[in-house]
Amino acid sequence: MSLSIPLLRRDHVHFSLILDMLDRQTEALERGDARAVPIILLGLKYFRDYPRKVHHPIEDAIYGVLRHRMLRGVDKLFNALEEHVELHQELAVISAAARSLDGKDTAALAGFAERLRKFTARERRHIEKEEVYLYPAAVRLLTPEDWASVMASCSGDKDPVFGDATAASFDRLFAEILVRDLATRDV
Ligand SMILES: [Fe+2]
Ligand SMILES: [Fe+2]
Repeated sequence: MSLSIPLLRRDHVHFSLILDMLDRQTEALERGDARAVPIILLGLKYFRDYPRKVHHPIEDAIYGVLRHRMLRGVDKLFNALEEHVELHQELAVISAAARSLDGKDTAALAGFAERLRKFTARERRHIEKEEVYLYPAAVRLLTPEDWASVMASCSGDKDPVFGDATAASFDRLFAEILVRDLATRDV
């Protein structure tokens, strides 16, 4: 088995940390606290970056190989390509909505919070489906040659938050997730 599946699973753990953070900030929005908006924007920016540009294309390539082999189970239960397109579209819409929020309009904040909750729930369901359907099929059926072609077709860009070095533009997001979680953890 290629090392790619453990790396993709590690990405999912990281994505879950960002989704947890977004859910925490959603609770703040529901209380009418607009100070949550900048960190929400950073979380959404992260999803437009590494997951969309690197993680999803790898999964699309894996799905392409599996579908080419007419794997009925995977194709009927889960279409990774379609889900990625839908997630990217929703991400673009919700990011634009976040940028246009008026912090003084509590009804708008609450409406946006509801939409953000739907987005994080959808992302979590997507990740679960990949863990249940896509990854086990890939482990079973992809050959070393398949893995080589999957990885050759994809960008090698590093994760800007959880990679070897955190990009300066994501410093605040990194601190919000990791430093906060460490500070609140019982030792
Ligand atoms: Fe995915
Ligand atoms: Fe994924």
